[in-house]
Amino acid sequence: MTLASPLHVLVVGGAGYIGSHMVKYLAQQGCRVTTLDNLSGGYRDAVLHGELVVGDVGDRTLLDDLFRSHRFDAVMHFASFIQVGESVKEPSRYYRNNVTNTLTLLDAMVAARLHRFIFSSTAAIFGEPQTERIDETHPQQPINPYGRTKLMVEQALADYDLAYGIRSVCLRYFNAAGADPEGELGERHEPETHLIPLVLQAASGRRSHISVFGQDYDTPDGTCIRDYVHIHDLCQAHWRALQTLMQGGGSQAFNLGNGHGFSVQQVIDTARRVVGKDIAVQYAHRRTGDPARLVADASRATNILGWQPAFADLETLIEHAWRWETRAATYQSKD
Ligand code: UFG
Repeated sequence: MTLASPLHVLVVGGAGYIGSHMVKYLAQQGCRVTTLDNLSGGYRDAVLHGELVVGDVGDRTLLDDLFRSHRFDAVMHFASFIQVGESVKEPSRYYRNNVTNTLTLLDAMVAARLHRFIFSSTAAIFGEPQTERIDETHPQQPINPYGRTKLMVEQALADYDLAYGIRSVCLRYFNAAGADPEGELGERHEPETHLIPLVLQAASGRRSHISVFGQDYDTPDGTCIRDYVHIHDLCQAHWRALQTLMQGGGSQAFNLGNGHGFSVQQVIDTARRVVGKDIAVQYAHRRTGDPARLVADASRATNILGWQPAFADLETLIEHAWRWETRAATYQSKD
């Protein structure tokens, strides 16, 4: 009797925040994992399992060599630029990295007859919300280059399926947050722009305060509302998406969030409770391009993928992020 060999997954961007958690998650499921990362925003020591190939996703020769020397069952693609404001100032970098390089990856996959692809997409493809909760039928009208780059890839994927048979799952994250529940990994963006790590850096003393961008939104306390989804739950969704592709499922897209919105003020108040100390706040002007409220309707992921977030409460998510923040001093040096 022969035992089935473990799935071999290529994680592009596996040294970054979400990618590194995914590498660990896949290894825990018994998969073989290879990471491709150019370490521009990721860290060598964040890749806890498998082989790390240091290189660029836009390097076709490297991809062809990689696909000749390894037999992958699927590719997960996390390597993109993610800052909305930066995408407005430097659209060229965003279109090149997020669109052109992804097409290079897809073309190399077509040439290697590798047909399963899981793509990190974003709530930013929808633009200004037109409904209280955003489901997959919401109009797709991104309002910044970042969102447009992700939507373009989603559209290209539909065409690549029809023409070349690449089956894909696009996962649109709302606000990815939290850290590895076992404390081994966490968020290490440089510069950090996301609310929860910044709030916790203010709590640990790595920053003097947190700035709250806008208090005059049309929300109960005047600050913006977001749907924070735990990184571990995002990994679970990728795992389930991989199962559907392995079982022959077709191309699909899912919105991923908990369906609960928390305001910036609620995040700060919860963080104060979790860390047990005050956190200095300065109230600042609105940040350009921030919608008042962004909350997911993820019932499609629940119904079709069987996705059940394990850490849906904000307190646990912040607890995990805080555990990481208290270790962060040991991770100051960048590869
Ligand atoms: N915020 C502050 N102070 C800060 C940082 C953030 O008040 O120092 C506020 C923001 O104005 C926003 C909320 O906290 O209201 C969350 O901001 P983040 O920067 O943490 O996250 P975003 O909602 O801007 O962005 C996230 C993803 C993007 C994605 C977007 C979907 O990081 O990649 O959701 O629109 F595009």
